Amino acid sequence: MLGGSPLGSGQGFVFLEGHPRLVYVLNRYARTAERVLVEMAAARLDEDDVVDSLISRCDFGLLGRVTGVTLDADESVTRLRSRWMTHLSSLLPRAFGSRGGVRVQRGRSDAYLYLGVDGSSASLYADTTGDSLNFREYRVYNHPSSIRPSLAASLVFMANADGGVLYDPFCGGGTILIEAALMSLARPTHARRTYRFRSFAEYTAEEERSASLNHPVIRPFEYEVGTEINSVHLKGCRKNLSAAGLGDLRVSLGDCTKTVLERRADVIVTNPPYGVRGSKLNRMEALSSRFLQNLPNILRPGGRAVVVTSDAEMLKREMARTGLVPSEVAKTLHSHLWVEGIAFRMPEG
Ligand SMILES: C[S@@+](CC[C@H](N)C(=O)[O-])C[C@H]1O[C@@H](n2cnc3c(N)ncnc32)[C@H](O)[C@@H]1O
Repeated sequence: MLGGSPLGSGQGFVFLEGHPRLVYVLNRYARTAERVLVEMAAARLDEDDVVDSLISRCDFGLLGRVTGVTLDADESVTRLRSRWMTHLSSLLPRAFGSRGGVRVQRGRSDAYLYLGVDGSSASLYADTTGDSLNFREYRVYNHPSSIRPSLAASLVFMANADGGVLYDPFCGGGTILIEAALMSLARPTHARRTYRFRSFAEYTAEEERSASLNHPVIRPFEYEVGTEINSVHLKGCRKNLSAAGLGDLRVSLGDCTKTVLERRADVIVTNPPYGVRGSKLNRMEALSSRFLQNLPNILRPGGRAVVVTSDAEMLKREMARTGLVPSEVAKTLHSHLWVEGIAFRMPEG
């Protein structure tokens, strides 16, 4: 959708191949991504000295002026090949040559290198992003249990919607509504920010500007609506909507287990409160049950829903009682908690 050919995926990574301009497109529009790395060099694991081979194949001049490097690696390197990291750290200052006393350090630095092993080869990647793409400028109100924006965007993709009306019944600070609306409008993920790629030797502002998306990556929604039971969160949600330039989006105060939508939604994407254990879990069970019973009033027959929860087994049990069957389940780690996105369809008729 954003260009580039998929090469595969694994452990939180998606590998793509494409024109160098893809770096700009992904940084500006990939709402589900945390950062964009480019492969600088690769070496086969059966080569004599993998680290020396990688260093000799890299052109560090491409990274522009660098004074400090943060070096990171995947688990297979940090756990099983830690001497690679020591060796790499010792070679890097020289490898950056005369471009001025490069230090290998953690924390704030102007280059970030990542060493990863995939199958029978190792690759050295350079970060093009800088601060995580997960940060969104529109979050002026921080809901205490807000969802990570990249996860919100992934759930909207998971709904595989065909346009129509999107409803978030437990909208909180509005992240899901905002991500869906901005995707529908093909807006860049960030209005203002500095990307690391801007200090690269071959960067040009014209090329970055030319990497604009002129079509949405999803079938646009007609409109998005939300309900929230707590007036403080609703007020915060409205602040976030207006910071995102979506002041017209309709959110109202209400209990979604009693809501009746005049035009039922084609798609529901939502993140109800979690109850990890004890009495809170019992309350969440009752809430899920009331929410699912009210579905015929808020989701049209044949409509799709994606619910993300850490109480997945409980939700699946409640769904089974209501005759709903998951069509897809995806698991991810969210703020130290395993959560599942559960997709299902409202039965026809
Ligand atoms: C996990 S939070 C949603 C966070 C939101 N996705 C965000 O990123 O800001 C769940 C929200 O559901 C709200 N809520 C709980 N019960 C509700 C109900 N019956 N109807 C509507 N909202 C409800 C809570 O007040 C809370 O703000």
